[in-house]
Amino acid sequence: MPKRILIINGPNLNLLGLREPDKYGLQTLESVNDDIAAEAAKLELEVGFFQSNSEGALVTAVQDAFYSDDTYDGIILNAGAYTHYSIALRDAISAIKIPVIEVHISNVHAREEFRHTSVIAPVCSGTIIGFGTKGYKLALHSFL
Ligand code: DQA
Repeated sequence: MPKRILIINGPNLNLLGLREPDKYGLQTLESVNDDIAAEAAKLELEVGFFQSNSEGALVTAVQDAFYSDDTYDGIILNAGAYTHYSIALRDAISAIKIPVIEVHISNVHAREEFRHTSVIAPVCSGTIIGFGTKGYKLALHSFL
């Protein structure tokens, strides 16, 4: 059975392609997800997609990936700005027993000081930062 990986994108990532293209590129989220799906097919992984601007909805998606009838073997998570302060999201990641890979499109360490801290990094299995939207596809390889 192929491993099932859930791709979760947080706040404002629905605006990819429109939002600050100098930082996040010109690709829409739909097009990024198409690329991820194509890479996943090559790697014989199954993928699901979820995006929300709401912290609670993201917490529930993380929980459900492990504690529901529709479970996954891992999560690739770009939590957007929640990365920097959501203890609720961190606790949800701690509560599940599948690996979570943190992804950031931009190099957060080359940006404002407040983006240098990730409250979720210590409870994630690994982090991919600054490789553009390609980062999601790179993260898929960690599940092979
Ligand atoms: C981001 C970086 C965050 O600091 C920012 O709030 C985002 C996107 C990234 O992918 O580079 O929304 O997670």
